[in-house]
This record gives sequence, structure tokens and C-alpha cells, in this order.
Amino acid sequence: GQLKPFVDRLPLPPVLRADGTTLRVDMREAEQRLHHDLPPTRLWTYGGCMPGPSIEAQSGKVLRIDWRNLLPSKHFLPIDHRIHGAEKDQPEVRAVVHVHGACVPTASDGYPDDWYVPGQSRLHTYPNRQDAAALWYHDHAMGINRLNIYAGMFGHFIVRDEHEQALGLPQGEQEIPLTLSDRLLTTAAQLYYPVSGNSEAPWVSEVFGNAMLVNGALLPYLEVQPRRYRFRVLNASNARFFNLKMRDGRPFVQIGSDQGLLAAPVSLRNLFIAPGERADIVIDFAALAGQQLELVNDALPIMQFRVGSGRAKDASMLPAVLRDVPRMSESAATKQRMLTLDSYQDCVAEPMLMLLGGKRWHEPVTEKPVLGSTEIWNLVNLTDDTHPIHLHLVKFQILDRRPFDTGAWMDAQAVRYTGAAQAPSAGEAGWKDVVQAWPGMITRIIVRFDGYAGRYAWHCHLLEHEANEMMRPFEVVAA
Ligand code: C2O
Ligand code: CU
Repeated sequence: GQLKPFVDRLPLPPVLRADGTTLRVDMREAEQRLHHDLPPTRLWTYGGCMPGPSIEAQSGKVLRIDWRNLLPSKHFLPIDHRIHGAEKDQPEVRAVVHVHGACVPTASDGYPDDWYVPGQSRLHTYPNRQDAAALWYHDHAMGINRLNIYAGMFGHFIVRDEHEQALGLPQGEQEIPLTLSDRLLTTAAQLYYPVSGNSEAPWVSEVFGNAMLVNGALLPYLEVQPRRYRFRVLNASNARFFNLKMRDGRPFVQIGSDQGLLAAPVSLRNLFIAPGERADIVIDFAALAGQQLELVNDALPIMQFRVGSGRAKDASMLPAVLRDVPRMSESAATKQRMLTLDSYQDCVAEPMLMLLGGKRWHEPVTEKPVLGSTEIWNLVNLTDDTHPIHLHLVKFQILDRRPFDTGAWMDAQAVRYTGAAQAPSAGEAGWKDVVQAWPGMITRIIVRFDGYAGRYAWHCHLLEHEANEMMRPFEVVAA
């Protein structure tokens, strides 16, 4: 049946602040009501709720987190034992936490092979030597993280800095996380993770739910005052892209992307956000006292804003200049790489394979950037899909996307462009850690490999693709 929209208040995850000591976060099973009229849903969580607590860090201040795996020893979602890392001889339940967008030494990055089993814990150190940004944490255990994340294992990790603090942006009760995720629910309101027809190989290439959750609630509402609000939008879905709009088409303002503030605010009428991406947006409700507004995905409802009547004092600001974001110059790059995004289906009985640079995860490392050097990565998309590509450790800028002849590439690895290069949109012109690599295009990013030497991962953030080999290691080597 149809659930009544906008009966649940938007949940706000608890905030965990670094106070100089080591934080402890427990991974555990929990139950949560996703909608007032539904029975509780079994989830796997950080700290007992989905999303997990919003962790707040200060730029330049080291934060330590003890991540304890207290999950059950049996999984409740279907494991595909043919997926690399999830073979029958591996422990069924494994977990490791990755803070997406964090610049950390590899030992604390949550490398996919560094998983551990229930009863164990890991102490991760986050130096936070980076600008204010909405990062997020999620599971990264080899071969099953798509299931662990689907089960509820994700949360915000907000880095703050003095520069951002001084801008006077909406804060406190006027700064709201909006974490989007879609799920399939059974009639008993339990998570359903779809499977292929082949019970030996249940992997499916993408998961799209019909229940759209915001902060873990189905079609919630938020009461706001007639003033400015800042929303930290995160797409934590396995595979769904969202095209967010206000139902009445009114514009809103984007002030930040994955790795923090843009140079200047950008007015938008829609926000197209891929899994893994974040957007920092501001909506001014000042002229809307007493009204109700809807946030929609294309035409489908996501949530409602109820604007209080009367007047509200607003001391917040929306400065015309947010941050200096110098454009990286192509001439700084000492290396260019051509990296294909490809999918293979050799025989009907075999599940599809998706590869980066034509290689599987376990093959020897081929990308070894020198610490401190700058490279241009050409993402040569030979598939019909958009793949949101994420690199651990670094932030980067998008140079451009350019249509090319995929046939010419497949015949002779020849690059034949068929159109002009397209600059990134204003909302993606800031610092990024996920880039939408569009089909039929070569997407170029420019990256400086700052931070730490060591081994990291890069992958498609469509979690089913990532699981089926669309993930590769790269190794930053000392100069
Ligand atoms: Cu959002 Cu490899 O991560
Ligand atoms: Cu992909």
C-alpha cells in the first residue's frame, strides 16, 4: 500500500565531537522505524542508528577512532561467493571503515583487504590536515561492502576550519545533514537486496530502491524558520543518482562540493548528484513564511519543508566570495594516464565483469604516482553508463569531458575526439573526490598526490560495480 508522506520528522543523527580523547564507535545490529506506519527494520549500523553519528573534526587536529566490530557472525543479506574477497573460505562477516575524502596514512584508510571480523576492533588515526568539508564514512570490506552499506553502515564526517567558521554561514540548528539513500523493502518492512536468477551468482549490476530515505526516514518533513539554512547533502545510495529540485522549480544555492567550499555560490534549479558525491547547499526560506515546500527527485517526493509563520531573525550570511580555489594548471602535470572504464560479458553463465584499465583488483599495481607530483588521469569510458569514479587520499579538479569515438579506441587504442571538450559545471568546478565519468566521453581530472606514500584504492562508487572488480589499487611512492 501507499505510505502517507511527511508524517515523520526528519531524524538528525547524534553528533560525535572530538574532545581530545579517542572516540569509540561500535558496529552493531539495530532496529529502526523508517516510517511511522512501518514496523522496525533490521539494520547494521555504526552506533545503533542509520545514518551513524555525524563525526565532527577540526582541521589540523588529530582524531582517533576505535572502530569496534560487534556485528553478528552471519550476514542477513545475500553474499555472492564468486565475488573477489567473498569466497566461501572467507569469514562471512567482515568490516573495515573508510573515511571517504580523508587524507590519511594508508594504515588508517580502511584499505579493502584490511577487514576484520566480529569481536575485533581497529584504532584509526585521522590527521585532518585538510580544509573544511563534508566527508563521510562507510564500510569498505572486500567483496561485501555493498551489502554492509546497504544494511546501514554509513555516516557523515564533517571537517571544520576557521576560514569557513568566519564566513558566517548558517550554523547550529540552521545547518542540517541530508543523507540520501534508496532501499527496497519487503512487505514486513525488512531490507530486500535483489539477486540475479542464478543462485550460484546472485550479484546484480545495480540496486535501485523504491523507498527514498533521508537520514534514514521515508518521506520525512522538516520544520524550518523563515530564514537561511545550510544543507549538507550526501548521496549514500548504492547506485541511484538523484536529480534534486524544489517542486515549484525555485532556485537554490550551491556553496560546496565534495572537498569543501566552492570559490563562489552558484545558483541552481537542479542538483544531479551521484553515489559518493556531496553538495553543500543553502536555501533561504525568508520570503516563505507559513508555506510548505517539497524537495523532489525529478518529480518524486523526497521530503517536505514546513516554514514557520511569523518572522525570524537571521544573522547568517551568504558571502559572494567563499574561498580561494585556484585552478590547477595542466602544465603542472608530469604524467598523463589513459585509464579505461569497461565492462565484459564473456558468456551468459558468467556474471558481468567491470574493469578499470582492463585489470582486476588483485593484479599488480600499475598506477604509482610519486608523492607530491601532479598527474592527469583520462577516464576513457567505453560503457553506456555514467560511473562515479572516486580516488582515496586525494582531492582533484575536473578539467573537462570530451566525446570520442569508442570504436576507434577499441580497434586500435586511438583517441579520436568527435566533439568539443566540455568544461565542468560551476558546481563541480571546486575540489572533488568523485567525478561523474559520462558514457562516450573521456573525462580528465588533474590530481596532486599529496599526503602520504602508500597503497590506496580508486574505484567506481556504484557499489555493485566496485564489488565486481571496478576497483584498483594505486600506490603513492616516495619521491
Ligand atoms: Cu566512498 Cu572507496 O569510497
Ligand atoms: Cu561503475
